[in-house]
Formats: sequence, structure tokens, C-alpha cells
Amino acid sequence: MKVMVLGGGGREHAICRGLKRSPEVTKIFCSPGNPGIAKIAECVALPAGDMEAVADFAVKNGIDLVVVGPELPLCQGVADAVRARGIPVFGPSKAAARLEGSKDFSKQFMVRYGIPTAAYASFTEKGKALDYVRAEYAAGRGVVVKADGLAAGKGVIVASCLAEAEKAVEECFAGAFGAAGNVVVVEELLVGEEASILALADGDTVIPLVSSQDHKRLLDGDRGPNTGGMGAYSPAPVVTDALMREIDETILRRFLRGVQAEKLDYRGIIYAGIMVTKDGPKVLEFNVRFGDPETEAILPRLESSLADALMKTALGKVSQIKMRWSPKPSVCVVMASEGYPGPLRKGFAITGIEEAEKDGVIVFHAGTAEKDGVLVNAGGRVLVVTADGDTVTDAIAKAYAGVAKIRWTGVQYRRDIARRAVNRK
Ligand code: AMP
Ligand code: GLY
Repeated sequence: MKVMVLGGGGREHAICRGLKRSPEVTKIFCSPGNPGIAKIAECVALPAGDMEAVADFAVKNGIDLVVVGPELPLCQGVADAVRARGIPVFGPSKAAARLEGSKDFSKQFMVRYGIPTAAYASFTEKGKALDYVRAEYAAGRGVVVKADGLAAGKGVIVASCLAEAEKAVEECFAGAFGAAGNVVVVEELLVGEEASILALADGDTVIPLVSSQDHKRLLDGDRGPNTGGMGAYSPAPVVTDALMREIDETILRRFLRGVQAEKLDYRGIIYAGIMVTKDGPKVLEFNVRFGDPETEAILPRLESSLADALMKTALGKVSQIKMRWSPKPSVCVVMASEGYPGPLRKGFAITGIEEAEKDGVIVFHAGTAEKDGVLVNAGGRVLVVTADGDTVTDAIAKAYAGVAKIRWTGVQYRRDIARRAVNRK
């Protein structure tokens, strides 16, 4: 099987690694890939945003399966373009990708199918949005302000006071997130512990992967600004068997009912970002692709063939998938550039990756580049270091021992990834 992966971050590195370990796979292409991926796949640079270029490449190179990593190409219709040439794609259609691409569409979908989520209102006028926010605060409720469209993980402002909420509304309408902020969603502030539930889905069946938990805030103790995610672990003990049954019933099954009722072509991952509130699990957001960095914690636990699972999903045969998971918990720590999630300091030489790998950790590349033969930091999230262990405490120790061997000027990372899983016990 020849597979093509779209994307070039830690998530795609983890997907390529999983494919490489799958017995069916003979060749992997990745566009654009990165220096870590280049060790296991042939990286090609197709023009970004050109769906037909992807379809052409797949036809010319006899690709059997295209796997789409990020949300942007899905929202631009890459799955539709490749499928039109008769090639299986792991990833939902453009119409289905609106579940991530438009928060307003996504909220309406949840309401239509009874999926528990935060109360909300959508606005196209700043004045009305500000009135609503003030009324919420007057009634003693906090709010979260969200730009409707894709904003690279930056369009969500969890307001800590009325002034901050007002400022967020002003900024959205002033174009801080471009066209993504033309519609603004204002949501009820939910309180609880978060978990990520990723599942393989087609129009008939949805099969959850093992649970995980992300760490969205930059700093230890969940302080500082929101980021793309600073680390993850799997499983997430907050997701007990009983809670998983509830999530399956009230979220995943209702999602499937909606996909069927609206005739959406869904063949890929449905990722439910969940807040476990005192009133039960509620959906914070749907994503239509693998989570990053959750994937770097989840996929190393997969013992059965990733290629088989992704191909069956692409063919609409999710009901035939049997996955086998390692019982060992895994932990991944994101190592980021100085300045992240703001303006970055880039271009510093990275050392110690091979020494770290000798001790059995996996080092995924997220934002690296090669400059004059030297590996340098080139993005916000640079490396993701994953380890497993007999206990989550062991996995934490092993992951951080790996992290300690890796250096570059200005590197930053959280010291408390997965701590919550330990404290719970
Ligand atoms: P989203 O991109 O919608 O998942 O939002 C990013 C992060 O903002 C989530 O992971 C939560 O930490 C936080 N968040 C989003 N919506 C809410 C909400 N309604 N209440 C509390 N926190 C939220
Ligand atoms: N880890 C959050 C995301 O992938 O959206």
C-alpha cells in the first residue's frame, strides 16, 4: 500500500510512524513533511492550498490512500478533490469539515441532535454581542468569546472578567482573526476537567480510540495563555468506563445520527473536546482530524495496524476495524520555542535528540528545519517527546529524562505534564 500524508507537524510525524510500522505499507509520501518525517517518508512540497495538485500527485504516483492531518485542507475540500479521482481518503468532505470550520455551524448541529454543549449565541453585529456579554455578566455568568472560523487555535478567548470579554468581542470584530471573526460566538463558561475523545467514524459506525488529555495553557498549573497544546497523556483517568458510556451515548451516537440526517460524507476522525462538568460531559468543540499533541500520545499505544484502520475508515468500513492498544500509559511533552505562542525566536541549533532516543523515548518533530545541515527550531511547537511506562509516574519520568537531554537557545516546556493523572490516584 502506498500512502500519502498531508501536513508537516508532530501529529503527521506520529501518523507516518504508525504507517511505517503497518505491515501493508510499502511507501509513504508526505507533503510538506519535516526533517523528522523525512527519515521515514519521502517529503514532497506540493503548493499549499492547491487541492487539484494533491489529486494529480496521488494519481500520478499510484497512491492507494491519502491521509489528511490538518483541518485547513479538509475545510478547503481536499477530500472531495481526491475522491473525485477514485482514490480513498482518510478525512471528511468539505461540507462535513464545517463541524470544525464554523463554530456557529457546529453549535447549531449540536443543538439539532441534542449533543450536550455550552449555551451560546452567535452575532454578526458588535453592539448586539456586547449587549449580550454585559447581560451575561450582570446575571453572574462568565463567557467565552470565539471567532466563528478557523483561527489556527487562537480564536478562543476564555474571559476572566467583563472587560476582557468586551475586549475580545471588540478585537474579533476589528479583524484580529481576519474573516474568521466576522461571526462571533459567545458561550457560557463551563467549569470542569477537560478530556479529548477521538473516534474513527464513517456514516454507520463510530469507534473511539483510547482517551487522552491535552494541556492547553502555556505554563505549569494551567496558567498563562492558551496554546495549541503543551503536552498530553493517554489514557485520561477522568474518563472512567461509566463516563465513556455516557459520552458514547450522548455525544458520539448523536453525532452519527446528525451525520446521517444531513447526509454528510464523514470518513475520518471525529474529535470531541469535552468538559466533564458536574452536569455530565459537554462538548467544547468538534475537530474533524487527529488532535495535536494528543496523537503523539495516542498512536504510540496502537499495537495493531494503523494503515488498516485508516484504510477501512476511508472505505466506509469502520465496523470491520479491530484495534489493539497497549495497556501502558503514555505521556508526551511539547518542547517549544522562546516566545511561543507569541512572536518566536527561531533558528537555533538543536542538540541531544539521538541521546534522548537511546533511552527509548520517541522524539516527534513538529517545528524543525535544516539550515546548512544543522537541525534548528523553526516553529512554535518544535519537538514532542513521548514515553510510555508501567505507570503514568514512570512514563512521566522517562519522558522528562528524554526532554532533559535536548537543548536549544530559549527552549521552553511545561514541567507538570500528566501530573493531574498522578494526583488523582
Ligand atoms: P476550543 O478551540 O473551542 O476547544 O477552545 C480552546 C480551549 O478553550 C478549550 O480547550 C477550553 O480550555 C477553552 N474553552 C472553550 N470553550 C469553553 C467553554 N465554553 N467554557 C470553558 N472553557 C472553554
Ligand atoms: N490539541 C488540540 C487540538 O488538536 O485542537
